Amino acid sequence: MARDILKTERLTLREITPADLPFLHRIFGDAESMRYYPGIKSFDETARWFQRLAFDSYTSQGFGLWAVTDRQSGTLLGDCGITLQETSAGLEPEIGYHLWRDHWGKGYAIEAAAACRDHALQTLGLARIVSIVRPDNIPSQRVAERVHRRRETFAKTGSPDGGMMEFYLYITDRT
Ligand SMILES: CC(C)(COP(=O)(O)OP(=O)(O)OC[C@H]1O[C@@H](n2cnc3c(N)ncnc32)[C@H](O)[C@@H]1OP(=O)(O)O)[C@@H](O)C(=O)NCCC(=O)NCCS
Repeated sequence: MARDILKTERLTLREITPADLPFLHRIFGDAESMRYYPGIKSFDETARWFQRLAFDSYTSQGFGLWAVTDRQSGTLLGDCGITLQETSAGLEPEIGYHLWRDHWGKGYAIEAAAACRDHALQTLGLARIVSIVRPDNIPSQRVAERVHRRRETFAKTGSPDGGMMEFYLYITDRT
């Protein structure tokens, strides 16, 4: 039984299990969902992504990408969670979110990401939590704007050819 991490009004965030990977790969293998990423992933790439950012991260950091599920039915909707990512401040905890397309436009990402923000600052005691968003990923910006306090810009590798590109860094500090 996967461990529950957080509950919100409509959602349960729980640890991901290997049985979730085929569903999660629908997102990471989907061109529309991966529009603002360097490309779609193969199943093996999706499995390696969750090995690193979920399973290994649970053990090494005590956080990672979690399964976003409907609180009532348990239906898997996507993932949202906290992982260590390179920013202008070095390696720091970042909130990321990916939902299957059928579940866009319902406020689930905002609800899940806000719960992760509060968990990071209040439960884990982190001093600052961020989200990294490509300037052309408007849906993700609309989520990040509602979750975070302020925004900066920084450059890191991320373009399809491995070159440097500009990202928005949405920031919330513990006050
Ligand atoms: C990023 C992503 C999760 C955003 O999905 P989303 O459905 O737009 O975000 P939410 O689930 O928070 O829903 C917010 C939208 O639902 C609407 N909404 C409907 N009911 C709502 C409710 N009860 N509460 C809040 N918002 C609600 C909001 O108005 C908002 O729409 P708007 O931005 O047009 O105003 C989605 O586009 C995605 O999975 N993309 C692929 C992966 C990706 O790019 N991830 C981000 C990487 S940085």
